[in-house]
Amino acid sequence: MPGCDTTLPEESTVRMTNTRQDGSPIAETVLSLRGISKNFGAISALTGIDLDIGAGEVVALVGDNGAGKSTLVKILAGVHRPSAGTIAFRGKDVTLSDPSAALALGIATVFQDLALCDNLDVVANIFLGKELQPLRLDEVSMELRAWKLLNELSARIPSVRVAVASLSGGQRQTVAIARSLLLEPRLILLDEPTAALGVAQTAEVLDLIERVRDRGLGVIMISHNMADVRAVADRIVVLRLGRNNGVFHADASDHDLIAAITGASDNSVSRRSGRRQAGQTLS
Ligand SMILES: Nc1ncnc2c1ncn2[C@@H]1O[C@H](COP(=O)(O)OP(=O)(O)OP(=O)(O)O)[C@@H](O)[C@H]1O
Ligand SMILES: [Mg+2]
Repeated sequence: MPGCDTTLPEESTVRMTNTRQDGSPIAETVLSLRGISKNFGAISALTGIDLDIGAGEVVALVGDNGAGKSTLVKILAGVHRPSAGTIAFRGKDVTLSDPSAALALGIATVFQDLALCDNLDVVANIFLGKELQPLRLDEVSMELRAWKLLNELSARIPSVRVAVASLSGGQRQTVAIARSLLLEPRLILLDEPTAALGVAQTAEVLDLIERVRDRGLGVIMISHNMADVRAVADRIVVLRLGRNNGVFHADASDHDLIAAITGASDNSVSRRSGRRQAGQTLS
């Protein structure tokens, strides 16, 4: 984990651009992408992506293999620099030059491999890489803080002093998410948080995502599982071949979602151009 400071930018202009599924307005747009493109040599991984995420909103990013989901998340995590386009965070244009810059702004990422240290306990994993921060904490303080964080998330972890290796997949995901919340981010990126989890563990992680949303964070969740996506997402954003290919509510039909993901159909009534998502009412 790279070191970073937790300074957040000054309060920015509030923009009313989105509504939740229940019609309630999202007061603050945390993140706005406009025209984001990414080329790897001759390969265009992303072309002209527009995306808005509100505070307290879960946006599911779906798309087939190679659609560009991970590339987009890596751009937001500061791993890749976009070839074109702008990123505004809380109303201000930003450059995410490296992962520590993204973290310092308040963008946290839980990558699919979780990057936990199996031989260390829950407390050590939550504080991994942060022990040497200016506000160095002792073991007791770290343990109390870890408990508080996990309790706030209603996480079912038997003890914060057990090695992470002994935890279930869902509990490990919980520890990784708790770790990402330590620096109090505004936006959290979750890459396949329920992949390879059983039914009960998936339900626990989806509950956890809802609690993260309830804390007022914006959440981007990548998933191939439409049931999981429907369970928690306020909006479903489809990428196809590196481009926006529709924005849906959670109650969209499988047919429409699959058509947008695969490009099998061009006439779904609920399909919307990703470029039109900001500021428009969704059917
Ligand atoms: N570092 C890289 N160098 C070259 N090409 C890359 C690189 N990273 C991604 N790509 C290409 O960009 C495209 C999008 O890949 P990406 O990993 O973002 O897709 P994805 O939607 O995450 O797919 P999956 O569901 O399989 O994880 C693919 O064609 C991929 O081969
Ligand atoms: Mg991927």
